[in-house]
Amino acid sequence: MNTLVLLSSILGDASRSNHLAQHAIARVKATDPTGTVTIRDLAAEPLPYFDAATAGSLFTPAESRTAAQQAVVDLSDTLVAELQAADRVIIAVPVYNFGIPAQLKSYFDLVARAGITFRYTAEGKPEGLVTGKDVIVIIARGGVALGTPMDTITPYLQTFLGFLGMTQVTVVAAEGVKMGEAALNQALQGARADLERLLAA
Ligand SMILES: Cc1cc2nc3c(=O)[nH]c(=O)nc-3n(C[C@H](O)[C@H](O)[C@H](O)COP(=O)(O)O)c2cc1C
Repeated sequence: MNTLVLLSSILGDASRSNHLAQHAIARVKATDPTGTVTIRDLAAEPLPYFDAATAGSLFTPAESRTAAQQAVVDLSDTLVAELQAADRVIIAVPVYNFGIPAQLKSYFDLVARAGITFRYTAEGKPEGLVTGKDVIVIIARGGVALGTPMDTITPYLQTFLGFLGMTQVTVVAAEGVKMGEAALNQALQGARADLERLLAA
């Protein structure tokens, strides 16, 4: 089994979502020693921000692209190929200012490719082309919001991933990690147990 892990915390070794992702990786390696695990740390190796130059590269026909634009398209193609090659995708998502990290948004912007990762049918209905993936989203949040209108990211992630065809999404959340030592430990322990259950052989 191929597992792709996307990390996006800006907090490095202090990151709770990275800690949980590492726990998940250890479980994956223990239960499937011959499988491959590809880790893409979007904070350590940031992708280009989705500005006019980046978006313009993706929208420029191949024959008209500059070398710089072609490099952006090549990068996007690499990310898409890596995603398509994965059977399982683990996405570690810190909540920053009610949103996902900008680094993860840039990744999403680079893999959302019309005609490649999604398309519209003759009836105008969107159809995701990234199918057959088992997706685990690991959320680390300072407060407690899951299942309430304060949780602005779970519906967004499910909508975006579903749009690309990733409909089998399980959310593991460590909430209240900034609400004191006891709440932090309880949140991490609960999330680790959820991951162990999900990733049991
Ligand atoms: C810049 C910044 C913004 C944050 N914004 C929120 C927020 O909007 N809601 C919340 O519940 N926690 C917020 N937090 C707390 C984080 O969700 C928490 O620290 C979590 O562990 C982040 O994941 P990470 O440790 O993997 O980076 C914020 C933390 C930082 C550093």
